[in-house]
Amino acid sequence: MNLCITGLQWGDEGKGKIVDILAEKCDIVVRYGGGANAGHTVVIGDTKFALHLLPSGSIRKNTICVITNGVVVDPDCLLTEIDTLGEKGITLTGRLFISESAHVVLDYHKKEDQLREESLGKDKIGTTIRGIGPCYGDKVGRTFAVRMDDLQNLDELKVKLGKIVDYKNKVFSAVYGAEPIKADEIFEKCKVYAAKLGDFTMDTTEFLHKSIADGKSIVFEGAQGALLDLDHGTFPFVTSSNASPLGMSSGSGVPAKMVEKFIGVAKAYTTRVGGGPFPSEQDNEIGEKIRVKGHEYGTTTGRPRRCGWFDAVVVSYAATIGGIDEIAMLHLDTLSGLKEVKICKAYEIDGKETLFFPANSEKLSKAKCIYETMPGWDEELTEMTDFNDLPANAQNYITHVEEIIKKPITMVGVGPKRSQTLFR
Ligand code: GDP
Ligand code: IMO
Ligand code: MG
Repeated sequence: MNLCITGLQWGDEGKGKIVDILAEKCDIVVRYGGGANAGHTVVIGDTKFALHLLPSGSIRKNTICVITNGVVVDPDCLLTEIDTLGEKGITLTGRLFISESAHVVLDYHKKEDQLREESLGKDKIGTTIRGIGPCYGDKVGRTFAVRMDDLQNLDELKVKLGKIVDYKNKVFSAVYGAEPIKADEIFEKCKVYAAKLGDFTMDTTEFLHKSIADGKSIVFEGAQGALLDLDHGTFPFVTSSNASPLGMSSGSGVPAKMVEKFIGVAKAYTTRVGGGPFPSEQDNEIGEKIRVKGHEYGTTTGRPRRCGWFDAVVVSYAATIGGIDEIAMLHLDTLSGLKEVKICKAYEIDGKETLFFPANSEKLSKAKCIYETMPGWDEELTEMTDFNDLPANAQNYITHVEEIIKKPITMVGVGPKRSQTLFR
């Protein structure tokens, strides 16, 4: 069976943990979108792994890991990750494959990301400064793009980089008054990338289709979350790829009909990093309690995450556009100790009640949440191993969310560890 795992909120739902668990029964794990803006955490026993570009299946020594065309690859970050896993005795040689069509994030992308954000002041998007927007921009613009296969032809790449850097420097100087970058330095780095990553590069679309024909099973690992989707999220406060499940096919070359199950991951509350409207945000003592108990600080940037109540309008929308079959709801343990818990069931916008999420940021910024309040629970859940042992109020919370969003919640998280997951 092929599965696709994606985030149903604004990212950081716990996709890494669920992918790692489901990878046990699969042969291949595929990252198909985003780049090193992602930070996916896998906790096994007392060991924590934070992955940015490598699929979360990497931790399992027999799993094939594939980075497909839809990903923007930052070779510096990828090589560091490969080395870090190597130090822990996990080697990727012979089981990591990178698409020759994946675009490469280079230093000028990160510089452009930073300069643009700084120039926007309070209107900034709040990006991760990983060069994601500028690299996808060059992909769409075509003329100045560098792909993994360009690293295989260094003579041509040298000429191409000269032209690209010349153009970028004009922009850096004229628009931002910034120092130029040196094409030679970037080319020297590309020579290292070519030498170290050349053996991993291949036509991953062909590989995946052959693998499916051979009866292999695949987990497709989404990055970010549906609300950060470039086309269907809260534009412009989104990332630059199709981060909802809709991006899976274009990002991997495998049609959605070859995937038997789409699993959405959501937290038992909501978080968001960076700018943009967030109707159920609790910029108060409740939000702070959730942030502290849930360790809600970015895996990639360390920024404190904005926290708020579970928003069923958001998750229903994400599940609808993503064709979600079932849901993993994580961080139920984080809500322990709250006297009452709230669920946003609908919005009021300009005096009208709405159940369908308005992805338009201007409309969304006017949305007032209509909440349903449920009694909380005091018991800590982290040692619980059976859903039926959870306090009645915690069980009721899950079953009530299920009723509202009309999707089955088949996995419940009660802690960060691989083992702290309850199956229903
Ligand atoms: P991802 O980007 O969707 O993979 O999620 P992140 O790794 O960025 O953030 C999720 C965080 O929550 C990580 O620190 C996980 O270790 C942690 N986590 C995952 N599931 C649970 C859970 O059920 N309870 C608690 N307390 N932490 C969890
Ligand atoms: P994972 O895969 C949470 C957010 C950034 C910013 C916006 C644009 O770990 O869930 P970008 O650098 O992509 O141009 O930033 O998107 N963002 C994420 N937020 N989790 C992520 O990834 C994110 N990747 C990007 O904070 O608001
Ligand atoms: Mg994350």
